[in-house]
Amino acid sequence: MTNDSANAGADTGRIIMFDTTLRDGEQSPGATMTFEEKLEVADLLDEMGVDVIEAGFPIASDGDFEAVSEIAKRVKNAAVCGLARAGAKDIERCGEAVRHARRPRIHTFISTSPIHMKYKLQKEPAEVLDMVRAQVSRARAFTDDVEWSAEDATRTEHEFLCQCVETAIKAGATTINIPDTVGYTVPDEYYALFKMLIERVPNADKAIFSTHCHNDLGLAVANSLAGVRAGARQIECTINGIGERAGNAALEEIVMAIKTRADVLPYATGIESTMLTRASKLVAAATSFPVQYNKAIVGRNAFAHESGIHQDGMLKHTQTYEIMTPESVGVAKTSLVMGKHSGRAAFRSKLKELGYDLGDNALEDAFNRFKALADRKKIIYDEDIEALVDEEIATNADHIKVVSMMVVAGTQGPQSATMTLEVEGKEKTIQSTGNGPVDAIFNAIQKLVPHTATLELYQVHAVTEGTDAQAEVSVRLSEDGRSVGSKAADPDTMVASAKAYVAALSKLMIKRQRQVVAQPRGPEAKIKGI
Ligand code: KIV
Ligand code: ZN
Repeated sequence: MTNDSANAGADTGRIIMFDTTLRDGEQSPGATMTFEEKLEVADLLDEMGVDVIEAGFPIASDGDFEAVSEIAKRVKNAAVCGLARAGAKDIERCGEAVRHARRPRIHTFISTSPIHMKYKLQKEPAEVLDMVRAQVSRARAFTDDVEWSAEDATRTEHEFLCQCVETAIKAGATTINIPDTVGYTVPDEYYALFKMLIERVPNADKAIFSTHCHNDLGLAVANSLAGVRAGARQIECTINGIGERAGNAALEEIVMAIKTRADVLPYATGIESTMLTRASKLVAAATSFPVQYNKAIVGRNAFAHESGIHQDGMLKHTQTYEIMTPESVGVAKTSLVMGKHSGRAAFRSKLKELGYDLGDNALEDAFNRFKALADRKKIIYDEDIEALVDEEIATNADHIKVVSMMVVAGTQGPQSATMTLEVEGKEKTIQSTGNGPVDAIFNAIQKLVPHTATLELYQVHAVTEGTDAQAEVSVRLSEDGRSVGSKAADPDTMVASAKAYVAALSKLMIKRQRQVVAQPRGPEAKIKGI
């Protein structure tokens, strides 16, 4: 297969990787990230070589605006982009948010399909065309790097789409994005759409064409690559493929498809592929969206071989069943099987392999807890060890600790919890009831540590399989516009729930203290005592 790009020119096949994890990804229900989590994700995206980071939708909320502007200030290499609808206020707010970036980009969009124009915008095509012209020109007043998107492009009439694209380029758009907003297209059709645009729009060579695919039919990555074959040189995607509905094209799949099949996909990205697993884990933790076990590239089973025939083949030659090496995506090749007979040296080496560097005392504590877990659980997976060490790190930073607890559950309510917490060095005990055991636990904590935080998220999932699996509980609390999340793992779901809740409360306490140090005292800087 050749590179049949129509507007290739001095085309090197270098694909601009545009990551929208923090915008389209974060927009998906339940994937909200805190300010700090967004910064951490942006730093990693920058480090791994993403070319454009879409950091958010600045007009959507003050929180989004703050996150985009902070990311714009700190990102070292990537262009930082904000999204704006076709209105003056949106574009101004976006321009303001990205203005400190080394390379600021405004991404503005409007719907162009008949169904969107009629029902959503309630506008005639001619009005939409005027808006395209006006919005792109307005955005150009803030930056030279303006991207324009035709929302629902794949269901737009070709003649009208050509007019819109031509108008956007004339008004100064440097990137033209052709989104498959509803995940409706198929590779051949998407290929033909780019071919048609690049050949028919008179000034097509003045802009970079971009793909943006949703995964409703599971075709997002295939469609993105078809767009590239037709001449698109930017791909919009997200880590783990998170995004609206069934998600967006997954960055890690695109990067590895291009790398692994260079023979038929003669393109290149600037992504350091060995960081893909780290990025996947960070985004999964920040969003509390677990990665499915069989997810391509970053799923837990992506490099696991269980059947005897496959294991036999692998032992003879790894390429019998592996088309890419685990190391190339950041997964350590050999996996030590950890259990109750493992010693300190194996444990230390396993932690190193998982990317942890603990001091001697923390290592000793983690090792003792690992031994205790190994006595209760048949198989210890890497995820068990990660959960245990993450918990160790969180516990050491905590202001509040769970000392002991006893829960009474069952069909005869009300359920109750007797809880002893250590709060800033002092032990306190109380009994409380609730509508179910978790409610009883949280009520007990509320009595011991009075606070005004509200519970935004409570989620339980088994870290590994089996009835003796560790439960991992995620809790998110919010107070006065601050939102913090925490996780804890324990074979007892109730204990994990209590630990996750107090860990989040501890974080809130730390945040309040930091805020008091950082801000002059005013009426709004008042802290509520815990
Ligand atoms: O899917 C879509 O159409 C979008 C646009 C805002 C680019 O996300
Ligand atoms: Zn989208």
